[in-house]
Amino acid sequence: MKKLLITRKFPEQFVAPLREVAHVVEWTEIETAMPRDKFLAEAAEAEVIWSTLEDKIDEELLMHAPKLQMVANLAVGYNNLAISTIKERGIIATNTPNVLTNATADLAFGLLIATARRLVESADYLRAGKWKNWSPMLLTGMEVSGSTLGIIGMGRIGSAVARRAKGFDMQVLYHNRNRKYEDEEMYGFQYRALDELLAESDFVMVLTPYTSETHHLISAPQLKQMKESAIFINVSRGGIVDEHALYEALKNGDIWAAGLDVFQEEPVSLDHPLLTLPNVVALPHIASASVKARHAMLATNLEALLTFLADDKPKNRL
Ligand code: DGY
Repeated sequence: MKKLLITRKFPEQFVAPLREVAHVVEWTEIETAMPRDKFLAEAAEAEVIWSTLEDKIDEELLMHAPKLQMVANLAVGYNNLAISTIKERGIIATNTPNVLTNATADLAFGLLIATARRLVESADYLRAGKWKNWSPMLLTGMEVSGSTLGIIGMGRIGSAVARRAKGFDMQVLYHNRNRKYEDEEMYGFQYRALDELLAESDFVMVLTPYTSETHHLISAPQLKQMKESAIFINVSRGGIVDEHALYEALKNGDIWAAGLDVFQEEPVSLDHPLLTLPNVVALPHIASASVKARHAMLATNLEALLTFLADDKPKNRL
């Protein structure tokens, strides 16, 4: 039987079928991931790894894993994998597309509304006993309905967010490597060059994969191009944004607010400057965290693992 290394405590119903067909070595603590030194040591004999986005399967790990044949990654994003080396070595890698699209789009849109309408700040205000009067301009935010949403990265999730935006009578602009002519025709989404999108949008949402090309795609010059009333939303990966530049833009009023589900370093440190700002809504990378989506992600990986362990070709290969 092949050695399958699982870096987390996953719900047993998704691991049990694997115990029949592989020698499972797993991390059993619920709240933490397998520490890096143990991961490196256990990888030496592993033929298969079931990883999460926190586990870096980088050049170092790959050097420690000479027998590795397959990686199942519990995410649609796979920037934690050294994908070109993985491919060069003929290692099969799979991810979990499609099943998290709706959960992620729901959260992205929820974060947009929460940031625009200052939901977290308002709830804190009430609980802190500051609510003394109704007052005309108390905790006023930006109106979502009828505004313009600019989406950077119009893949499955981008398109699902854009369709939700239509229900709010928003104008949807998008920037993407490829034009989405069908979506343009069917829903009226409009393509824009990045500069134009930044200048025209009331909300700028990043939904592009994180690669060397998108690293710090949003930096000081891009933030300067946005409206002073603009709201920036990131549910993709923290590294797409220069966090220092974002902090400066938010602090100086160059843009109005930001909703962030992701950070360059995760978990984000509690003394991170962005967390000191009242106009930042910060979440702990929960975009896909509905029970339905997470179960479907686990089931997608499980199916790929069982297929591979039965010497067949798994779906969702990267
Ligand atoms: C992903 O899948 O890439 C998300 O960031 C976590 O679900």
